[in-house]
Amino acid sequence: MKNVAVVGASGAVGERMIRLLEERNFPISAIQFLASPRSAGKTVTFRGESHTVRPISKEAFRGVDIVLSSTPGGVSREWSPIAAAAGAVVVDNSSAFRMDPDVPLVVPEVNPQDVAKNKGIIANPNCSTIQMVVALKPLHDAARVLRVVVSTYQSASGAGQKGIDEFEDQTRAWGRGEPIPAPAKFAHPIFNNCLPQIDDFLPNGFTKEEMKMVNETRKIMGDDSIDVCPTCVRVPVAYSHSESILVETARPLSAEEALALWREAPGVTVVDDPSQLQYPLAASAEGRDDVFVGRIRNDLKNPNALLFWCVSDNLRKGAATNAVQIAEELLKLEPARA
Ligand SMILES: NC(=O)c1ccc[n+]([C@@H]2O[C@H](COP(=O)([O-])OP(=O)(O)OC[C@H]3O[C@@H](n4cnc5c(N)ncnc54)[C@H](OP(=O)(O)O)[C@@H]3O)[C@@H](O)[C@H]2O)c1
Repeated sequence: MKNVAVVGASGAVGERMIRLLEERNFPISAIQFLASPRSAGKTVTFRGESHTVRPISKEAFRGVDIVLSSTPGGVSREWSPIAAAAGAVVVDNSSAFRMDPDVPLVVPEVNPQDVAKNKGIIANPNCSTIQMVVALKPLHDAARVLRVVVSTYQSASGAGQKGIDEFEDQTRAWGRGEPIPAPAKFAHPIFNNCLPQIDDFLPNGFTKEEMKMVNETRKIMGDDSIDVCPTCVRVPVAYSHSESILVETARPLSAEEALALWREAPGVTVVDDPSQLQYPLAASAEGRDDVFVGRIRNDLKNPNALLFWCVSDNLRKGAATNAVQIAEELLKLEPARA
């Protein structure tokens, strides 16, 4: 039984984290819910009991075994090392530590063994990257992935509670025939739009989100030779990210072979019956934990290339589910480290 703290408990990911600890019956002896002073005093119901959200503090981490943290990067950078120094293992959802060579970056379907290398912090990868690597892993094991060209269709909830609120406010205003409120979280209105920008632009012309997909994929798969060519787009969908993926492999891989590999792969569900108009959909993936793949086709010319469509709930497998699965991997280790 573990003493657990959920940090960022009032946020979009934190809320799912709480539900997942309940659903997966995580062994908990004590639990507390922390956020910024803005949320202090709010209540959270966990396993039928009401808990008060408290402001984050050094004292709060005393005696805590596992911290599930989902705060902005700057907050994690400050507080996750404090929690780790107090003796906890922190599963951190932010981008603060993902590329730190001393911090494992883990997707349990891909590199669960890296959990054991933790020195107090384990990073949870970027949401678009998690669903992509879960789908790529069985193909990589069978035919070695050389290059991935991916375009994402990322939901508003990927930008947290403020992203969800902005999408809903703009959609409601349109429904009432009112002017669309000015954007604040996104650079342009998200309603009735597709924004080919997620996070800031870098000097190389890619965005930070796109470079996360490049660098995190290599670190999780343990293969720096994998080429990732991403274009990340925010779309007017509330929940679940969709991705169009072209993958090139070292040896030819037929669509049938890929389907057989995915049917055996943990965390992957195949939805691929074009005759019945069945393929993965964002609305169907919402609230589910799997990564859904479909629309699988061989490239028209290149026998070493496959195309497919990949969908997953960004707040669940893209964040909270993956974090709780990492915590479950911790339970399998020596009690001293968990
Ligand atoms: N949304 C996604 O799909 C997704 C996926 C993967 C990873 N992530 C990452 O997960 C993290 C959280 O994302 P989110 O979408 O849940 O964002 P969110 O809805 O904005 O929630 C942020 C949480 O952090 C807390 N927080 C903010 N400032 C704080 C401070 N100074 N001290 C303590 N707590 C503070 C907030 O508390 P208050 O309510 O009190 O402000 C809230 O609980 C981010 O790093 C994000 O990049 C998000």
